[in-house]
Amino acid sequence: MAEKQKDLKTIRIFDTTLRDGEQSPGASMNIDEKLRIARQLQKLNVDVIEAGFPIASDGDFEAVKKIAQTIKGPEIAGLARANTHDITRCWEAVKYAEGKGRIHTFIATSIIHMKYKLKMPPEAVLRAAIKAVELARHFTPNVEFSCEDAVRTDLKFLAEVVAAVIDAGATTVNIPDTVGYTIPFEYFNIIKYLKENVPNIDQAVISVHCHNDLGLSVANSIAAIQAGAGQVECTINGIGERAGNCSLEEFVMALRTRSDILPFRTNVVTEQLTPASRLLTTVTGIVVQPNKAIVGANAFAHEAGIHQHGMLCEKTTYEIMTPESVGLKTSLLVLGKHSGRHAFKKRLEEMGYALDDDVLNKAFERFKTLADLKKEVFDEDLDAIVADGVQGEEKFKLEHITVTCGSFAIATATVQISTFGEMSRTAGLGDGPVDATLEAIKKLTKTKAKLKQYNVGAITGGTDAQGEVTVRIADGDRTAIGRGASTDIIEASAKAYIQALNRLERGKGEKKTDMHDAVTP
Ligand code: KIV
Ligand code: ZN
Repeated sequence: MAEKQKDLKTIRIFDTTLRDGEQSPGASMNIDEKLRIARQLQKLNVDVIEAGFPIASDGDFEAVKKIAQTIKGPEIAGLARANTHDITRCWEAVKYAEGKGRIHTFIATSIIHMKYKLKMPPEAVLRAAIKAVELARHFTPNVEFSCEDAVRTDLKFLAEVVAAVIDAGATTVNIPDTVGYTIPFEYFNIIKYLKENVPNIDQAVISVHCHNDLGLSVANSIAAIQAGAGQVECTINGIGERAGNCSLEEFVMALRTRSDILPFRTNVVTEQLTPASRLLTTVTGIVVQPNKAIVGANAFAHEAGIHQHGMLCEKTTYEIMTPESVGLKTSLLVLGKHSGRHAFKKRLEEMGYALDDDVLNKAFERFKTLADLKKEVFDEDLDAIVADGVQGEEKFKLEHITVTCGSFAIATATVQISTFGEMSRTAGLGDGPVDATLEAIKKLTKTKAKLKQYNVGAITGGTDAQGEVTVRIADGDRTAIGRGASTDIIEASAKAYIQALNRLERGKGEKKTDMHDAVTP
């Protein structure tokens, strides 16, 4: 393989999984879930964690504050629109990060956003940007400013804003491709233009933030660092608004794998990438496609005979990075019903799960039940077992289910759930066992949510494999995703549906402020 270069510039990794990532439909997380992700980001050793948008709601504020109080190492950023209220509230949350709190304030600078969203002329936007940064600087020297929709902004105006906010004290200036519109060549030139035309540009780190609407977010981020950007904003599994953000694992591994021609490095502990990806899927229910680079189930699978032959002779024939380098440890030992607690715990730890004793004991009980039903328990089964136990206290809990169905019988499901600990039971009819089960759950929970998507798959091979069901439900403009696994797919469906309902319940009645709502500065 090609020689690595010696003098590598360190690119700062700004992870926005908990802010932009959480804006993915159905990806909302509660405080405990956000904290769990933040702990994994700490293990990954990212430079900055954008923990949320504190003004959005009391829940968002508390989550950012808790992360700032708990996480040691990375800087903790909060997002704020360019107005006094947002910035003050943001500081109230990130100030707990003990000298590592960052205020990230932004305003849109493209004609289209200024005219139709902000309804402000460019001069007013410029003034608001300066005022926002000055206020943020009053709280902390660690201030990032973003020109929202920078890619579609007139270059001269962009340079004027960037120069002004650096003068006002911004230490990082972000040039986002908010709508995922640019291509590498163009983005390179935008960053280069700013380097050459903003006189004080060396007093700030240039950051880039790419959305993936054209599938170019990683390529664009690489082009930007080649032009001089020093920070890249990204998310685990590439989650984020619409088509998502630049995928952290893809960007980081591109730099590591091609450091022969890309003279850059990051501080990320790449062996923590797979655990981070798995944890995010477990927490949000959003699964990655099997062929997803770096963390997809097939990313290191070599199916074709010719590839397998090559791999057996010399791995580098088809492998450009090792599975170990991204934290994918091949399971030497498949667990079964005779496996003890020690082996179970060890494997979970190798997979990146650090569970406290209580959660571990419950997971071990579920493992024993599963091992009685299934001869061999694989890593994917363990993911599902852990996922089952991380929800904490929720409103609805599935207790029992009995289904009758067949080619002649009308499918009937009798379901018992507990609602805040109180038992209730009913029967539902449907045109199949899943329909009947969901019908019964709908009656018990009195939900008005509509089922938008239902997917079923097998976690591993074999007829004794666990079925995995993912559902997406919507109530008005709120959506939630649920995921359930069981050797019985009817039970997996019920679990997935109830998980989605619980997620929908969490945010009910909570008024959230949208970052795209324009407010007068
Ligand atoms: O996409 C975007 O422009 C953003 C900014 C707030 C950085 O998310
Ligand atoms: Zn964004």
